[in-house]
Amino acid sequence: MLPKLWHNFPLFLLINTVFGSSLPFENGNIVRTIELGGSVVHVTTGYSITPLQNGLKSYTIALGHEEREKTSWLEVRLKGEKAALTVKELPFNSDKNYHLLDVELPSATSANEPFNLVVETVQTHATQPWPATAAQNDDQTLKYTTDLFVLSPYETTQQNTKFKNSVPRFIGYTAPEGVEQYVKGVALKQAGATVTYGPYVNLPPSTSDLFAEKYQQAIMIHYHHDQPVLELSKLERFAEISHWGANLNIEDKIVLYNAGPKLKGHFSRFEHQTQAFYKRASAHVLPGLNLHLPAGIRNAYYYDIIGNVSTSKLRVAPSVSKNQKGTRFSLFELKPRYPILGGWNYTFTLGWDSPLEDSASYDRKTGRYTVEIPIWTPIGGAVVNDEELSVILPEGATDVQFATPFPAISNTIGTHVTYLDTIGRPLLTFKYKNLTVKHAESIFVSYKVSWSAHLKKPIAVGSAFLGLFTLGMIVRRINLTIYGQKKKVA
Ligand SMILES: *[C@@H]1O[C@H](CO)[C@@H](O)[C@H](O)[C@H]1NC(C)=O
Ligand SMILES: *[C@@H]1O[C@H](CO)[C@@H](O)[C@H](O)[C@H]1NC(C)=O
Ligand SMILES: *[C@@H]1O[C@H](CO)[C@@H](O)[C@H](O)[C@H]1NC(C)=O
Repeated sequence: MLPKLWHNFPLFLLINTVFGSSLPFENGNIVRTIELGGSVVHVTTGYSITPLQNGLKSYTIALGHEEREKTSWLEVRLKGEKAALTVKELPFNSDKNYHLLDVELPSATSANEPFNLVVETVQTHATQPWPATAAQNDDQTLKYTTDLFVLSPYETTQQNTKFKNSVPRFIGYTAPEGVEQYVKGVALKQAGATVTYGPYVNLPPSTSDLFAEKYQQAIMIHYHHDQPVLELSKLERFAEISHWGANLNIEDKIVLYNAGPKLKGHFSRFEHQTQAFYKRASAHVLPGLNLHLPAGIRNAYYYDIIGNVSTSKLRVAPSVSKNQKGTRFSLFELKPRYPILGGWNYTFTLGWDSPLEDSASYDRKTGRYTVEIPIWTPIGGAVVNDEELSVILPEGATDVQFATPFPAISNTIGTHVTYLDTIGRPLLTFKYKNLTVKHAESIFVSYKVSWSAHLKKPIAVGSAFLGLFTLGMIVRRINLTIYGQKKKVA
């Protein structure tokens, strides 16, 4: 704590003397762009950086504690480059209200030779419907809160924050207080769908306790949002690899939640149909979804608690080779039995088969099969709160290995036993939380299957038939005997 006596002391002078010249970097311009959304908010922050020393190998970025909790994905690049840089999160110091992350620079710095970094993050569960309830034909408005100043352990010459909305409609935004000494010109303005805070100039390290206490503050944006706010509160994906049928079956059990404002009053189908007719359905009413499923799928199915839902349409694109993946997709127009309103859940199952060769390869040298399993199939702007992915390998698969694009919260290897299996199949499970479209990548599973294991399945089927046959004969004999006895008795 700061002794009371010091409170009248010019703070910026104090901060500058405490941190001043010994810092390794200096920020020129920092521009933060926040794309306001529903379940997902994208934040891109550009830093122009001047190293003040030679030979530095890492630059440190800071995220506020709450911001870190909401951040589900983060990537740092040199401006204009594709390759992501390695980021190491430092242990959290609970005395501080922020997290530090070290970004490894591709080459050691030369003093006074500036460079630019771009930090991209995706936040989930960062917005709130406000008001929390809305009638069927009301607008959907959300609020989003963040810190006024981008956190940095270094001094900053100038900083701006831009909030971009998908529509030019805002209800209001916080006017910062007590920061006049850092303001140059007009520091809060709206132009169309963009609200800009800043420029703020000549800022000391914003992670310092003194600065945080005196100047850092929360700002809130209250805005219209024209898409439903969707969460997959639970996703269970089963991916079953079958060599026997040369098939990959994917089945998703989904609990979809409309996280927009909760419906106030009753749902009126008449009102919904009138709105749909005039094409002005409220943003918080979800009539259906368009999903991009893989090309070349067959036997797609979609059912909910009541049964098969037949109002949906699937347009299948022909299969593409593995290296063309993502260029074509099948379009699935999912139409639930009733529109999903704010606060409502909808539980359904969606599945399809695809030719195994579309996602599998075989390496003759190592004798290994490798199969690509997508972690999830994105649903427009939605976040997956909780996923369990199960990969069921062919019976007799051995030497199982896998590679994941990012670590799962947990993963296990077990055995899945079904009716016709003799020894069960290796089962891999992966658990994830807070997935976004940035996480729609694939796991690669590789394994060996010996020839004898390949044969086990036909043998299992064969002996099952034989078993039934033998059993049938016994039953018939018994029947015969009884019949015979009855006959004798009669
Ligand atoms: C997922 O998001 C929630 C809400 O923002 C957060 O409390 C939780 O810590 C996150 N979990 C993980 C594993 O990121
Ligand atoms: C489910 O509905 C679809 C579309 O009408 C139909 O093609 C399919 O045969 C139905 N499946 C079942 C199991 O009833
Ligand atoms: C939807 O599910 C959540 C939990 O997953 C529950 O808290 C909520 O009450 C459900 N909503 C309705 C309308 O049933």
